[in-house]
This record gives sequence, structure tokens and C-alpha cells, in this order.
Amino acid sequence: MNCVRLLVVLVSLAAASLLRAAAPVSKTLPLPGEVFQVQGRQAFVIPPARKAANQPTPWVWYAPTLPGLPGKEEHWMFERFTQAGIAIAGIDVGESYGSPDGRKLFSALYDELVTRRGFAPKPVLLGRSRGGLMTLNWAAENPDKVGGFAGIYPVCSFVSWPGLEKASPAYGLTPEELGARLAEHNPIDRLAPLAKAGVPLFAIHGNADDVVPLEGNSGEMRKRYEALGGKMQLIVPRGQGHNMWEGFFQNQPLVEFVLANAKPLPPPARAELTIDTKAPTQPYSPMLFGGFLEHFDHQIYGGVLDTGSPLADKNGFRRDVMAALKELKVPVLRWPGGCFASGYHWEGGVGKTRQPADDMAWGVIEPNTFGTDEFVELCRRMNWLPYICNNAGNGTVEEMRNWVEYCNAKDGRYAQLRKAGGYARPRNVPLWSIGNENWGGHEIGNKPIKEWAPLVAEAARAMKAVDPNLQLSAAASPTREWTLPLLQQAGAYLDYISIHKYWLPLWGKNDMPDYTTCIVKSEGPEQMIADYIAVLAEAGYRGRIKIAFDEWNLRGWHHEGFPRKTVQNYNDPEVQRLVAAREKNHIASQYTMADALFAASFLNACLRHAEDVGMANIAPLVNTRGPLFVHPKGIVKRTHFHTLAMYANELESRVAKLSLNSDPLIHTGKSVAAVDVIATVNDSGKRWAIALINRDPQNEIACTVKLDEHPLNGRYRATQLSGDSPDAFNDIEHPNRVTPQSIKLNFTDGVTKLPPHSLTIVKLSR
Ligand code: AHR
Repeated sequence: MNCVRLLVVLVSLAAASLLRAAAPVSKTLPLPGEVFQVQGRQAFVIPPARKAANQPTPWVWYAPTLPGLPGKEEHWMFERFTQAGIAIAGIDVGESYGSPDGRKLFSALYDELVTRRGFAPKPVLLGRSRGGLMTLNWAAENPDKVGGFAGIYPVCSFVSWPGLEKASPAYGLTPEELGARLAEHNPIDRLAPLAKAGVPLFAIHGNADDVVPLEGNSGEMRKRYEALGGKMQLIVPRGQGHNMWEGFFQNQPLVEFVLANAKPLPPPARAELTIDTKAPTQPYSPMLFGGFLEHFDHQIYGGVLDTGSPLADKNGFRRDVMAALKELKVPVLRWPGGCFASGYHWEGGVGKTRQPADDMAWGVIEPNTFGTDEFVELCRRMNWLPYICNNAGNGTVEEMRNWVEYCNAKDGRYAQLRKAGGYARPRNVPLWSIGNENWGGHEIGNKPIKEWAPLVAEAARAMKAVDPNLQLSAAASPTREWTLPLLQQAGAYLDYISIHKYWLPLWGKNDMPDYTTCIVKSEGPEQMIADYIAVLAEAGYRGRIKIAFDEWNLRGWHHEGFPRKTVQNYNDPEVQRLVAAREKNHIASQYTMADALFAASFLNACLRHAEDVGMANIAPLVNTRGPLFVHPKGIVKRTHFHTLAMYANELESRVAKLSLNSDPLIHTGKSVAAVDVIATVNDSGKRWAIALINRDPQNEIACTVKLDEHPLNGRYRATQLSGDSPDAFNDIEHPNRVTPQSIKLNFTDGVTKLPPHSLTIVKLSR
């Protein structure tokens, strides 16, 4: 052993013995606290002034802890930490300069506080001067255990201070050896893990510091950290050196940095679901997964029908659109509107020669090439039950009755008209609605209830006289004042009442709120259904008449300035501008996980009320706000397309009873359950499919699932839709950014983790 080496060993032994020195049992702290020992070293904790029950204690880890430190200078900021509920702790590791031995002692303190004393797993490290070496070196090895680093003229490089010569003995190395191993030991040379973990840094460091120069320490650290993609806030008081200037220790930005980064995350949200497997189950109508198409914008023309497109078949129907819609197993389709229906005269859309007509609702020309027979043909092909909405706006009772005859009768003048058009056999349209939103001032031919109720009764009698088997609905309204008299006067003829709702009214302005603003609306359907059930019960029709939610969607369609209810001048530039503005409905980025999860929440509400809700029709099915976007070169399945496909294909046929207890999701004073659930089971009670929605935009939720008293355990087949952010969407360039994934969902003692902004359908067999 040469002399230099011997000297190194002797000095390191001395340093090691310093590290092992027995700690005095008392210590003067700037605020009252506890002094105790960790691995024979003196440690301290200053408790917070207040502590939240059942939550880990947030803390600041101060260094260096030496006989006089922390000192009276720290009093001001420590007081602010403790008042904010943050503890301060530290351990005396001697003059270790950030050495591996010192780091080990740091880890021992961390274990003591986090595992034994319930401290939060991510403290903010606060290094004063040489404390920088100790804290930064420990942080470099434990980036996932650090909420942030704040320094008061921190030493960031031992090359700068105390220099290799002085630091090396603590490392058990020669100065040359230590100099050759900077990447392993020198804080400023090992910042990458901290940057990768996104640990925020802060320093206050004077530009006249000639002991620990700004340039070789905090200044250089900021440069390097930012180059690595990290964030560092640096305050440089002009003319200040390595001194006791009050501004270093009574620094509000430093306090704010610590408060912002030491606070523990709120505890993860939870939900508990217990499925009652012994309670009776409720079958639901597959018509809850119905659709709607209106002669509006590109729903029919340029949507399902695209005559001349290379993607269309010989009848002009788009093959790609048909194939995609088949995935949704749509059971029923409402047509031709909507507001359009209240000005539509069906006779213009039948027969071999067709004349274009004015579309009084939407200010365009209706070509009439897609009429009753094309609709019925499409329904046959797609296996949709045709559901026709009659014109009770500017149409007459006679016209309504005649349309039924045209479709369903064997004989009669209008049946003859059908036969002359090439359709010998009745088209058997089983479902009809009298009117569309005739309560509203926006609707062509809207009426007060005193006219509406008798008109519905009269039209129903006339229509049923032609076909007594048809199922009838009529436009009801959001108020009891309209719906109750309607039921009282016409309820005897009705099988459904027709209700509509778009939860974001975007008719005039296409201003999209953020994900959370949308998702806190997702308990709206439940409330609306409950209100209508109450009216049905009050009228004595609950159980006999069902709710047809025959237009629903999160987003109302954008049609600024319309409907106008009169024939427009099609050359008027203003009319043309307003018609063109409807293209805004197609902006891809609008349809995010909010649409997917709102749709799931809507369907859950209908399924929960399957006894009373007999039909629901997403409006529309294609283009505008619909789940399938169709453009000349192809299609895009928007986020809610996948929700509808998952529900239609994966649920079982009956709804089971359950109890759910979920933490809330609160936003701008509004609150919904963070988790929503529906449990379905097949007829034999053996196969289960449970749909679990986590509405939280950021946080995973620990959800406990029990079948009776038995918590689920193990891995189960599931399909999950979540996207990589709450704002994720599909577009023409990236049609598959949000798609359902087949996964195995893990349950331990009933608990599974639901990713943020996700829908999961899990399958079980018993
Ligand atoms: O915005 C579309 C319209 O919304 C439908 O035509 C009508 O039924 C509803 O008011």
C-alpha cells in the first residue's frame, strides 16, 4: 500500500467513525419537536401544527442536520411548513458530502418515517449549502421517493465545494478515483433520473457567492436539468453571497414551492359494488341500443347513402358504413326526423318519379331520392325495425293515416300506390311516432297541449284503424304540465311516450366544454328518466306505457340560426353561411372519452330502469354528433361508437340488482359518482357481464366487486376502453387511437384498479 493510499484509508476510517459517532440525545430545534436515534445517529422530527386524519404526513427533509443545524434562521419557514400541515425531519450524517454511507443513513431515516411513522412517501428535500450534496445524491438514487428539491445556495457539485481532495475520504477513494467516478457520485452529474421522474427543483442562490459559486452549482444545475427536460426555478438575489441574509431564509417562493410539492395526493378514490345474485333480475329491451337518422346534413345523403361513391353498392348504400353499423347490432331505427319530420310530406318520397322539395326545417332542398321504400329496404338489410316519425307539424291526420296504409295495408288507394312503385307486399312498419317535439317553439306546427293531446288521440285512432297492431309513441315534453294531459287524453292509444335530450345545447355556438364539465352531466339521464316515471305513475300508465328516449346524445347538434320553419332563399349568402357552419359538427377532436363515457352512463341509466324505458335512439347514428363519421374516402369510429358496440355485443340479457357506493367526482360545484356500474346476467344466471365506468379524468379508482358476500379474486376476461387521455379522439389520420382492448382484469380480495376515464366490461362465469 503506498503512502497516499494509506492516508486515504486512515482518513476514511476517521470519516466512517464520525458517521458512527454516538449521537447526543438532545438537540435544540427551531420549533418544538422530537429528537431520536436512527442507526445510532441523531434524527429529529418537528410535527405539523395540524394533521389530517387517516392520511400520511407530508414532510420536508432538511439537511444538513449538524449540532447547530437546523438553526434559528430556519424558524420562519419551518413555522409556515408546520402551519400548512407539513412536518420537518432530518438526520445527522456528519460530514459525509453525499457519500454512499451518508445515503444509507438517509434511507434508514426514510424507512423509519414512511414505513413506521406513517409519513408520506414523497417528501420535499430541502438542502442548505452542503445539505445539497446529501439530499441531491440520495434523490438521484430514489427519484420515485422525492416530491421535489429546494436549495438555499445548495452545493450541487463536490468538485466545486469542498473539492475532490476534501470530499474523497468520505467516499473511501483517492481524489483521482473520485474524480474519475463523478457520474456515480457527484449530484450535478447524476440528474437524469430526477428529470425522468419529473421531480421539480428550486434554488435560491446569490450571484456573489464565492464559497459555493452560483455558476458551478445552482446555475449549472439549472442548465443541465433543463437540457434533460426537467423543470427548475432559480432565484438569484443580486450581490448576495454565502451568508445569513434574511431573504434566503424568509423566502415566500421557496415556501410556496415546498407547499405545492410536499402535499400528499388526495387518497385514491374508491368504489364498492355488491351484486345481489339472489334477487330477481330484469330483462331489458334490446331497443335501448337503437338509432336515429334524420334528413340533416350528411346523415342520409353522403352518410348511409352515397350514390356514385366507389364505396357504395349498386343501390348507393355505402358498404363500409353498413359493415360498421352491423357491429352495433342496432335493433331499431327512427326516421326521417327530428324537426325535418314536421315539414316532411311522405308522398314526395315514394314512387318511380320523385320531385325535390323544400326542407322547411333546415333551409335546404330535399332531393326525395331516399324515401319510405329506401328506408324500409335499408332496415331489412340491416336488420333494423323501422320506426317512422309522422308529420304532426304541418301534416294532417289524414296524411299520417295514409302513410300507415302505404306501408302496412294490403289494400286501399295508398297500398295501390306502393304496389305501383314495385312493392307488392306490405312493408310492415311496426313502430310509429306521432310528431316530434311539437311542444317546442322551434318546431314546425308546434301546438299548445290543449290542441296536442286531442290531435294525438285522433291521429292514433286513424292510424290504428288501418293497422291495429302498430306500436305507437307520441311527442311528450320535458314538463309534467305537457305530458300529464297528453297521457290522460291519449294514453289509451300509446305504447310509448317519446322524449329527447341533448345535455350540451350547442345549437347556436359550437363551444365545447372540457371533459370534466361534460362528464359531471352524466347523471342527468337518470334524473330525467325518474321524472318521467313519476308522471307515468301519476297518470296511472306506469307499466303499460314505456319511455322511448328516441333522441339522445351528449352534444346537441350545431345548426346556428335553424330551424327556421319557412322556405329559404337558397342563394342568400347568409343562409349558405349558416348551412356551411354545420360542418363544425364534424370536427373530429370534439368526440372524446367524454362522449364514450357519457354514452355508457346513459345506457346504464336506461338499463337500470329497464322496466320503464323501452327504447333509446342515439341521435344521430351517422355523422353530425353520431358515433360513426362518414367521409368520401372512408369512416371513423368515434369514441362512443366503441361504447355502443361494447354494450350491444358484450352485455348479458338481464339486469341484476346491485348496491354501489362510490366516492364522488366533484367539478365546479357539481358532483357525480366517480364510478358507475351495471351488472347483467344471462337467463340461466351463469354468465355475467359487468360494465364499470371510471369517470375520473386523472385518477385510477380502487373498485371492490363482490358477488353477494364473496369478493372477486383472480384474473377475468374483460374489454376496456380508455384512450391515452380524457381528451383522446379518433380522426381520419388516426382512426384507432381509442379502441377497446381485450385484457385480463385482476381482482385481489375483490379490489380491481379501474384506469382513469375508462369503461371496462368484465365477464364472469359461475
Ligand atoms: O338538433 C337536432 C334536432 O334536435 C332534431 O331534429 C330535433 O328532433 C331535436 O330538437
